[in-house]
Amino acid sequence: MNGKNILLGVTGGIAAYKCAPLIREFVKRGAEVKVVMTPLAKQFITPLTLATLSKNPILVDFFNPENGEWNSHVSLGMWADAYLIAPATANSIGKMANGVADNLLLTSYLSAKCPVFLAPAMDLDMYKHPAVQKNLETLRSFGNHIIEPGTGFLASGLEGKGRMAEPADIVKAIEEFFSAEQDLKGRRVMITAGPTHEKIDPVRFIGNYSSGKMGYALAEECARRGAMVRLISGPVSVKAQHSSIEVISVESAQQMYDAAMEETKTADIQILCAAVADYRPESMADEKIKREKTGEMTIRLVPNPDIAASLGKVKREGQISVGFALETNDEETNARGKCERKNLDFIVMNSLKDEGAGFRHDTNKITIFDADGSKIEYGLKQKIEVAKDIVDHIVSIIKK
Ligand code: CTP
Repeated sequence: MNGKNILLGVTGGIAAYKCAPLIREFVKRGAEVKVVMTPLAKQFITPLTLATLSKNPILVDFFNPENGEWNSHVSLGMWADAYLIAPATANSIGKMANGVADNLLLTSYLSAKCPVFLAPAMDLDMYKHPAVQKNLETLRSFGNHIIEPGTGFLASGLEGKGRMAEPADIVKAIEEFFSAEQDLKGRRVMITAGPTHEKIDPVRFIGNYSSGKMGYALAEECARRGAMVRLISGPVSVKAQHSSIEVISVESAQQMYDAAMEETKTADIQILCAAVADYRPESMADEKIKREKTGEMTIRLVPNPDIAASLGKVKREGQISVGFALETNDEETNARGKCERKNLDFIVMNSLKDEGAGFRHDTNKITIFDADGSKIEYGLKQKIEVAKDIVDHIVSIIKK
């Protein structure tokens, strides 16, 4: 943490008292800390305490009414190497997820160019509420890092999940983020992600439930570890955050294939994470297809190129290829078969039989099958953690 600039955003919750030891932990590790508070947060812990510990004046208002001096949220956002909002109340989480900007902490959030971490703190029923969970998911989709709250006694007297993570654990999470080894420095990584849309007519398509979250998490992890990433993405709502990720947006399998065949020429590592439609309508109607008065309708489908298999045919010596397999039955046999057919170094299998795995979840449970026959099983984890495991495995192959 030595020399890192940490912007700490304190919102109005009882866990604000933990900000005192939190600031001390950062300062002890050589970080420079500036604190921005919401007006309500001042009622939970005094600015004097936090200013003394951080050795910097506390920022609350947009400007100083005495002399008209501005507190620039833009320069705060540029100054920070990390913006940590702790405690993050349900109210502030909701505002951040929806772009509300009615205090300095929130305008700083919208201006921040650095990684953002949130340590939620609230009562267990608030934390469980679908509105809060949806907002947290929105923030995750922006690439923000949620430091999960702990389970235990809450200020309300109830017991459950919602208490802010302990200061030492928060500092550890941020420290780990910064200490990521640059073990992919200088490597070019190509990733396919998301679904493909195969047009039927100008208003309809054949698609699938892929959210793109796994591919985007992999892109962030590779970029964080020093790689230059080309992310060939089907239509998704997630956004790439890291400046080393270049997104190539495509719609159909054919477009994804064309982009992948171009990118493979310079890629050192290729991760085929997209849920590519195996078939497309033989032809696309120029006009919207009208409902027939009687009878059924048939759409004739023709096969799409298999991107992974095509890349396998032109794979260069030393180039690493990773595929995915989403299976519902005979998982190991099917996954190993794909690994061989597509000339992959390893395949990441998730089974739809596992709760919390596969499409549309924030979590995933994977098994890696290597081309050499070995097998590693992992537990159910957040997709960001799963991405780390997969990239660790890629690095272990590079180091062999
Ligand atoms: N894949 C691809 N192009 C396709 C189909 C699949 O690049 N047209 C890639 C996927 O991105 C994934 C791997 O191949 O990395 C396996 O995808 P999957 O859909 O499980 O395999 P298929 O070969 O389509 O087999 P099936 O649908 O019969 O299970």
